[in-house]
Amino acid sequence: PLDHAIRPKRLADYIGQPRVREQLEIFIGAARGRGESLDHTLVFGPPGLGKTTLAHIIATEMGVGLKSTSGPVLERPGDLAAMLTNLQPGDVLFIDEIHRLSAVVEEVLYPAMEDFQLDIVIGEGPAARSIKLDLPPFTLVGATTRAGLLTSPLRDRFGIVQRLEFYGVDELSEIVARSARLLDVTADDAGAREVARRARGTPRIANRLLRRVRDFAEVRGTGQVDAAIADRALDMLHVDHHGLDHMDRRLLMAMIEKFDGGPVGVDSLAAAIGEERDTIEDVIEPYLIQQGLMMRTARGRVVTRQAWQHFGLAPDDQAPTS
Ligand code: ADE
Repeated sequence: PLDHAIRPKRLADYIGQPRVREQLEIFIGAARGRGESLDHTLVFGPPGLGKTTLAHIIATEMGVGLKSTSGPVLERPGDLAAMLTNLQPGDVLFIDEIHRLSAVVEEVLYPAMEDFQLDIVIGEGPAARSIKLDLPPFTLVGATTRAGLLTSPLRDRFGIVQRLEFYGVDELSEIVARSARLLDVTADDAGAREVARRARGTPRIANRLLRRVRDFAEVRGTGQVDAAIADRALDMLHVDHHGLDHMDRRLLMAMIEKFDGGPVGVDSLAAAIGEERDTIEDVIEPYLIQQGLMMRTARGRVVTRQAWQHFGLAPDDQAPTS
């Protein structure tokens, strides 16, 4: 089954993120009660925590349709105009990676968000015409990894802003147990917990690991996922006991071995490990920072004492304790 088969469809089935859930329940309930569309909503946080899932849940709970696109796909104002004029009243327009909208497309979005007005120029030169259209009321749900990547005029036009956080092991265990049920995998509590413990606080990773652990259990075991099978499968996948993957270890080891633990600028780190700076900032380091393995300082990134210890190395005397 594909990912969407195990995605929760209602707020009540969404596990974790209690503050987000409580606030959305109130704002959705109020908008519904007034017969209005929900205010524009910005959801931000690291990849795989459920931003897209939440957009779909918002549409379902509001009883409206959802049209989906992304910042890089909307190359020209006409691309956005086509999406906007295709909406039914109250629909959700989901724009993933909304920080990657071009400036000209963003300009079209402002009056659309504020006054449900489409305001675009068609044609070029002397034949150019400006057209204004009324749009149906709609809810823009924008998703991005970091709210700080948005221009302030765009950020200011969202009435609701929700930040998703890494999940705790208890929450992720619940998610793994639920996914196992839906996928018809037999996993005991300790097996589900082992997958959860090593999933970087991220449901998308937990669900992917669950599928790989199931494969391992079917071929090397009885098909049942317990802690021992999960442990062997995850070792095979080079997911370590802290849940760090190959990229995490590469980043931390580069900081330790090539930069003596830092401080080191993110661009130097990117060059050292051959990754994009954005990948480090959006994908790799947020979890390492949250886990207290590295820190972002004014002079650059530094690893903490825990990172040295993670690799069984002696921290140098000044290595910070986060
Ligand atoms: N699958 C992915 N994210 C989830 C969540 N927050 N709750 C339940 N299932 C999920």
